[in-house]
Amino acid sequence: MADGSDGPSPELLAAIDRRAAAPLHAQVERALRGHIRSGRLRPGDRLPSTRALAADLGVARGVVAEAYAQLRAEGRLVANRGAGTRVAARASDSGPARPAPRSSGGGESHLAAGPQPAIRFDFRLGIPDLALFPRRAWLAANRRALAELPDGDLGYGDPAGLAALRGELAAYLGRVRAADARADSIIVTAGTVQGLALVCSVLRERGVRRIAVEQPGWAAQRAAVLGAGLEPVGLPVDGCGARVELLAELDVGAVMLTPAHQFPVGAVLDPERRRLLAAWAANGDALIVEDDYDAEYRYDRSAPGCLQGLAPEHTVYAGSTSKTLAPALRLGWLVAPPALAGPLARAKLDADRCAPALTQAAFARLLAAGELDRHLRRTRPVYRDRRAALLDALAGHLPELTPTSADAGLHAVALLPPGLDERAVVAAAAARGVALTGVRQDGGAGDPGLVLGYASLPAERIRAGIAELAHAVAAARRTR
Ligand SMILES: Cc1ncc(COP(=O)(O)O)c(C=O)c1O
Repeated sequence: MADGSDGPSPELLAAIDRRAAAPLHAQVERALRGHIRSGRLRPGDRLPSTRALAADLGVARGVVAEAYAQLRAEGRLVANRGAGTRVAARASDSGPARPAPRSSGGGESHLAAGPQPAIRFDFRLGIPDLALFPRRAWLAANRRALAELPDGDLGYGDPAGLAALRGELAAYLGRVRAADARADSIIVTAGTVQGLALVCSVLRERGVRRIAVEQPGWAAQRAAVLGAGLEPVGLPVDGCGARVELLAELDVGAVMLTPAHQFPVGAVLDPERRRLLAAWAANGDALIVEDDYDAEYRYDRSAPGCLQGLAPEHTVYAGSTSKTLAPALRLGWLVAPPALAGPLARAKLDADRCAPALTQAAFARLLAAGELDRHLRRTRPVYRDRRAALLDALAGHLPELTPTSADAGLHAVALLPPGLDERAVVAAAAARGVALTGVRQDGGAGDPGLVLGYASLPAERIRAGIAELAHAVAAARRTR
């Protein structure tokens, strides 16, 4: 019979009961009929070769050959020379249809709930333009990683991360962010979100009960604090960043903040406040948790180094590839003071053993080859131009709004004038297909304003979107 195959044999589960009265070939037939009827085997699917399935089931090859022959006779299977045995095109009338291919569209519609019109301009938050992901460099780094990774590295690895990546990260963070990082102070995580959760769990073990978080701030930070059973305490923010002078009154064991580019407002933490913060942590033996989420994107060349470089003994630094490459990599890192590196690695072990070795190895090679630097040099001007287009369009169409954020990152903030309600503007914008968020949306703190992610939109879409937003603002004003 034609039992050839054009690829490795697929796995197939078929329960065989040697004590049952039914002959073995009939049991195999019944199992395969069941798979076809239920849709687990679908029209066109290739079956294992008779040799492979017989070996898997521990039966003679003739048993499987007989079962295949019976099912061919029933019209459920077809055998094509050289292409092996497949499920016939109309093998089952009752099985579920093959699922429709997933949309490869802009990934926007999943959040457009209820009767809202389709999103035409998506200014929701700040992910990089995914079309700019350096696929070739990533592919090359993956190929090399796979070819060169020792077999031993395919086991459960060091929970702190692959040594090669930690070494590369220490060098990169020292060079690009003036961090005081050594390989053994780094823990590789599944993005910043996991890193912050690990920090909170370790702080809880160490008796911390309250953590200050910026207000307004990133909802995921608050969630990390709450998730570890700790109490988030709001720390107000102004045009110079978090108001760290208030920390002394808050009775907290740690503060979580975004000094390079306050999220969402966009302020850069003032040098004097950096000094104050470092002194507060040192004097009270408290911890600074620095979320350095988009610091590589700075367009005015005056990027301050990270806080961790200023107070390495009292700071856990958190970063990730989500803003520089793509959130889907789920790759992040912590830089911890010596006393916390071990507990954080143990927390990572408890959470999920370790980060995926191949992704780590590929990223280590990307860093070593200078490809991340190249990618940043290539994308920075793109985002700088998009930011300029946004500010230009705001000045032209909505001069009553006040852009506040630093010349940095992947989103900007425009404050609303008195009398304009943030929620009403966001709703009026959504009704016109302009998706955006408000400063006060997560937790109700801060001056009313619009948070506008611009990185994924070409300049002409930004201009058209802001023109549409101007109509929404006018409508919100009329319905006030
Ligand atoms: C303030 C802030 N930090 C960090 C991140 C990145 O999180 P992760 O690395 O888990 O993707 C984001 C993403 O939106 C963010 O807004």
